[in-house]
Amino acid sequence: MYVSDCISVNEKGHLTVGGCDTVELAAQYGTPAYVYDENEIRKNLREFKNSIDENYGGNGLVVYASKAFCCKEMCRICNQEGTGIDVVSGGELYTALSVNFPAERIIFHGNNKTPAELEYAVENNVGRIIVDNIYELNTLNEIAAKHGKVQGIMFRIKPGVDAHTHDFIKTGQIDSKFGFALETGEAMDAVRATVGMENVKLRGLHCHIGSQIFDVDPFELAATVMLDLYKQIKDELGIEFDELNLGGGFGIKYLESDSPRPYGDYMAKVSKVVHSHSAKLGLKVPFILIEPGRSVVGAAGLTLYTVGCVKEIPDIRTYVSVDGGMGDNPRYILYQADYEILCANKATEERTMTVTVSGKCCESGDLIQENTKIQNVVPGDILAVLSTGAYNYSMASNYNRIPRLPVVMVNNGESRIVVKRETYDQVSECDV
Ligand code: LLP
Repeated sequence: MYVSDCISVNEKGHLTVGGCDTVELAAQYGTPAYVYDENEIRKNLREFKNSIDENYGGNGLVVYASKAFCCKEMCRICNQEGTGIDVVSGGELYTALSVNFPAERIIFHGNNKTPAELEYAVENNVGRIIVDNIYELNTLNEIAAKHGKVQGIMFRIKPGVDAHTHDFIKTGQIDSKFGFALETGEAMDAVRATVGMENVKLRGLHCHIGSQIFDVDPFELAATVMLDLYKQIKDELGIEFDELNLGGGFGIKYLESDSPRPYGDYMAKVSKVVHSHSAKLGLKVPFILIEPGRSVVGAAGLTLYTVGCVKEIPDIRTYVSVDGGMGDNPRYILYQADYEILCANKATEERTMTVTVSGKCCESGDLIQENTKIQNVVPGDILAVLSTGAYNYSMASNYNRIPRLPVVMVNNGESRIVVKRETYDQVSECDV
């Protein structure tokens, strides 16, 4: 009935998540607040993991893309579930290392990692650094030499596959700041450049075609294109890789009309292609890495707000303002992202009001959703915006010096704080 499996309604007509009454959570932790269902996160990680076990004989690793939602507790959960973690900055790497996440299972991404970040990764024995460009390759080789290490790397390749998603989150095409292009021969040149480099070990290649993708065909196509490149490299350079990283990008349900396929289906289909195409090309079947982010946490999270003023502009629209906004959910102003919104304390009532839900920031575009149908609300009601678990906490800002929200984790009717609400002191603590 709702876009996420962990959402329901209790006998009071209140929206629940992970067995907790959201109206009570709002009272206990205050609003605005992010709430995540731990079981849903674990269920999603296991679905990807099981699918690698079932379809690929366990010959692979699920690597959670922590850019979607990174905090210490999330890294602990990944460690308990035995997955890897993909980080894209020194800060995400620090978070994972700070909870003793095994460095061998960390993958370090990014199109412009600084020398300091690379050194931090090398010093801490990060398993794979995904190298984006030749400048980085040379810098990394020097840093690894300085530390007397051989650093595991993969190259990020733009396979030229169109992922049918929002332009801002497409990454597989030639006009992208990420990685080496296939068509121009850059990819081949990069592999060639590693020959004779003593302090890097090229474990294989990586591609990520985009995000919020529903079709499985682009993933199958990307796998085929990458294996064709593996064959070319084997023939021309005599190098055969052990690993193939196919990135993330699996779509989730934001609206009732979205119909993502079960996550297990991707590997079921992609593994067939990898097996048959490897056999056809005479290649060994590679160890597979996948990097789901949004699909692990997106539908497991929601945001709770309190309704403030309700401003009806006759014949134009009604603004329902809440106590958060673009600072905690920048995805509407950035991508016009869709969300389902409900009044948590009136969840069983009919949705009779068509409104624009706006934030409290000093910016006209500070909207969370336009022309959305919600229950008839008045100041003091609690609004729940569903499926906000990916790329909201992680892209949040302090615009207007509004403190960042807490993260509440729920699990079978129990709740706990995993990220505290920021205070005004913390918002200004770096000021001198
Ligand atoms: N691997 C790589 C190399 C990536 O660049 C990304 C996402 C992922 C994995 C995870 O993709 P996912 O499974 O979450 O789709 N801020 C945007 C999304 C940006 C995605 C960036 N890269 C949004 O809010 O929609």
